[in-house]
Amino acid sequence: MTPKQSGFATRAIHVGQEPDAETGAISPPIYPTSTYVQEEIGKNKGYEYARVTNPTRDRIEKNLASLENGVDAKVFASGMAAINAITSMLKAGDHVVAGHNLYGGTPRLFNQVLVNFGLTFTYVDTSDLAAVERAFQKNTRLLFLETPTNPLMELCDLGAICELSHGHGIEVVVDNTFMSPYFQRPIEFGADMVVHSTTKFLNGHSDGIGGVVVCTKPEQVEKLAFLQKCAGAILSPFECWLILRGVKTLAVRMETHDRSGRLVADYLSKHKKVQKVFYPGLKEHPQHELAKRQMSGFGSMIAFETGSLENANKMLRKVRVCSLAESLGGVETLISHPATMTHAGVGEVVRRKIGITDGMVRISVGIEDVDDILGDLDQALAAL
Ligand SMILES: Cc1ncc(COP(=O)(O)O)c(C=O)c1O
Repeated sequence: MTPKQSGFATRAIHVGQEPDAETGAISPPIYPTSTYVQEEIGKNKGYEYARVTNPTRDRIEKNLASLENGVDAKVFASGMAAINAITSMLKAGDHVVAGHNLYGGTPRLFNQVLVNFGLTFTYVDTSDLAAVERAFQKNTRLLFLETPTNPLMELCDLGAICELSHGHGIEVVVDNTFMSPYFQRPIEFGADMVVHSTTKFLNGHSDGIGGVVVCTKPEQVEKLAFLQKCAGAILSPFECWLILRGVKTLAVRMETHDRSGRLVADYLSKHKKVQKVFYPGLKEHPQHELAKRQMSGFGSMIAFETGSLENANKMLRKVRVCSLAESLGGVETLISHPATMTHAGVGEVVRRKIGITDGMVRISVGIEDVDDILGDLDQALAAL
């Protein structure tokens, strides 16, 4: 099969997922090995030590590169390990411009770890191109962003921001976790690298932690492979296999996530006790037109305002079909409270500045029967 000629769902099921050459097993084998026997000094089958390469890992890297239209990919022990690997490609004295509303763990890594190694960071609203340009410095090497952002669902015009950044010699890295490559492929808009927490939609079953960086240039692949070898934050063969299995149903899962996401957002937007809904699929979303242009679906991530911490807690205590838990992108509907969970670490001042309130609730709509999800939200919101 020529990967680029096949459709998305076909590539998800077949690229890197070829039957085992030795036995014909249709499900890729898991190679739980630390090392590989060599015939003589310098003569081996292309594998020497499993921190460096593993056949199960090769498969998922090939698969995810194909889905994001990259040249290759490297998988890591978590989404954070993947982001850390990207920043490890920089050197002391380099500057990064980053979105002001990212998953809370990302600025925690930047501000509490990487600043100690001589990197500097400026945070900016990446939906505002002029503000992004103002933030660029002579030593800026990277622009790191999420679109839509977590949890405010603000969008960034990918084509425009890539053009602007490249004009300044700056590479763009997009965390595409919220959309998955099924609905948005930043590389097609000019992004230089794409990162995912595979923990979310790519795996899709809430049963493994992982991360991936998809590259557009062989030099990036080489650097990241070297970092895997040096720093060792690789993904285990079993976790690689879990993603290989999960990604086979990505297309059908995303269709259902999107269909139900739209229905839940619509329901919430009409509910008297819900003050505001953040979802790019709603016509009222200020960037709805941009969402239609650069995404082929709106996904299932929705944030909404209940008015207070007390209200949020009242409803979250009541949910039964939805599970009160951090994370997202699983088959199960997960509901969470950004201020005390995913974004606790960014601190109250930043939360207030960017608009993450104590009454905000985030929902990752799963693929259960949507009537059951809506019924559950209805009875939970009745507590307000
Ligand atoms: C958008 C986004 N990026 C990165 C991460 C970090 O991924 P992981 O938890 O796999 O380290 C998360 C985790 O929630 C996330 O939501």
